[in-house]
Amino acid sequence: MSVWDERAEAYRESQEHREGWDLDLIAEWAAGARTALDVASGGGHVARRLREAGVEVVSSDPAPGMRPDVVCPAEDLPFADASFDVVACRLAAHHFQDVEAGLGEMARVTRDLVLVVDNLRMGDSDEEANRLRDPSHVRNYSEEEWHVLFAGAGLEVVEARTEDRRIEFQPWLDRTGCTGEDAARVRELVADRIEGGKLRLDRIALKGRKR
Ligand SMILES: C[S@@+](CC[C@H](N)C(=O)[O-])C[C@H]1O[C@@H](n2cnc3c(N)ncnc32)[C@H](O)[C@@H]1O
Repeated sequence: MSVWDERAEAYRESQEHREGWDLDLIAEWAAGARTALDVASGGGHVARRLREAGVEVVSSDPAPGMRPDVVCPAEDLPFADASFDVVACRLAAHHFQDVEAGLGEMARVTRDLVLVVDNLRMGDSDEEANRLRDPSHVRNYSEEEWHVLFAGAGLEVVEARTEDRRIEFQPWLDRTGCTGEDAARVRELVADRIEGGKLRLDRIALKGRKR
């Protein structure tokens, strides 16, 4: 059982994941699509939001405990080329072992759009805090790096939006079971961004069109 299977319920219930401007934006950007793939579906919030909008959605995730329609990593999607109108991936690319391969696969299986939402890189201390809080964290990318990644996957960025977000700090630690000395060190590393129990971070949403 992977850490993600153990955390599945926490991510299904997480207020931070169930809601957000980015879910509405994904639905807005996907308007007119008939089919979509939700990559790294986790608690299934993107899939649910798109289904509510009338889109036929397949969810995928490597953790069976997340109960995706298809169990697979982003780096190896078992779908034919151009299988979906839209491929979306929210708050997960920073966990991919090979983000170029994951984005390449998303570009391969879409007919038209790839939509990605993720937290932006906020420096070395933030990366250290993220890895300590969650050893499955690989890396956050800067806005510039995201543009290079999209270009490398053959995707033209037709729109990009950033958000200055505040998330509840303690539930963020709790979701990954980060406690004791580790939690204290994480708090120390991001102290300058905690205010009123909330952690400030930057988030990006990118809409890419297949060239
Ligand atoms: C924070 S959760 C996803 C959140 C979800 N997309 C949402 O909108 O609420 C991160 C997910 O990434 C998945 N994941 C980790 N490594 C992955 C990989 N290489 N390919 C695809 N998914 C991966 C985990 O299993 C987990 O379900």
